[in-house]
Amino acid sequence: MNIAQALALRGEVESYERQENAWLLEHITKIDSFDLVMKKDQELSSEQEQAYVDGLARIAAGEPLAYVTGSQPFWTLDLTVTQDTLVPRPDTEVLIETVLKLDLPDDAKLVDLGTGTGAIALSLASERPNWSVTATDIYEPTLEVALHNAEKHDLTEVKFFLGSWFGALNRQYFDVIVSNPPYIDVDDIHMQNLASEPERALVAGGRGLADIEHIIQQGKKWLATQGWIVLEHGYDQAEAVQNIFKGAGFKEVRTVKDYGGNDRVTLGQWQN
Ligand SMILES: C[S@@+](CC[C@H](N)C(=O)[O-])C[C@H]1O[C@@H](n2cnc3c(N)ncnc32)[C@H](O)[C@@H]1O
Repeated sequence: MNIAQALALRGEVESYERQENAWLLEHITKIDSFDLVMKKDQELSSEQEQAYVDGLARIAAGEPLAYVTGSQPFWTLDLTVTQDTLVPRPDTEVLIETVLKLDLPDDAKLVDLGTGTGAIALSLASERPNWSVTATDIYEPTLEVALHNAEKHDLTEVKFFLGSWFGALNRQYFDVIVSNPPYIDVDDIHMQNLASEPERALVAGGRGLADIEHIIQQGKKWLATQGWIVLEHGYDQAEAVQNIFKGAGFKEVRTVKDYGGNDRVTLGQWQN
């Protein structure tokens, strides 16, 4: 099988499936996307062909491409991804942009609760080397992937702790608490398409709001004066999340949309 035949194995011309085929083939052959087009007639070795067909079968069975290739680009970083981690989503980059626009001290203290691959903590640490960045997760194998990603990108000053939300931390005050917590209701129809990713990363009680509410209510005790909580949430949860922030006494509560025009990130400031 040559490269052109491999690319045509799945999907219509110019479809997303064809793009995924190209990414998978790039990963297996180590030929970059430009050269892939120029080398259409090049034959795949039998090992490459087998790896490609096996990869397509895993994708057809519902696995994200990132689990097959083992990595996912996020912000400026190439992050290692395993079946113990959520695949970082492009929409989460809106949270990074939102935090970078806040008026914060040069040596701000930030914690990322439920860090997964480390996507949020490591992106912010890479942009703000003077910040003190901490990251937590409840699941040790997940935290090991985040630690690996920190070493991979030479961001070894980021501190990692295992535990449930604030229970992972020693007593201290943060200028910013960020999180992309689980926020999908267990009965949500979208869960059908997310079956390959860990349920602990996705599902929360209280119609998807239980972890968000916990972080906001408990977070007050962990914030410096004028500190912020910045949270990712579902496209239809902005009003509920704003109400939780306001009910808890936060000011400057507002929601930011993602690149698809959906409400995605809500933040509030603790002024007491
Ligand atoms: C939606 S994923 C987000 C991962 C990563 N921050 C990202 O944006 O790609 C939620 C993460 O929260 C972690 N998590 C779930 N429950 C937790 C808890 N009680 N305490 C800390 N982390 C938790 C999961 O293991 C998972 O890594």
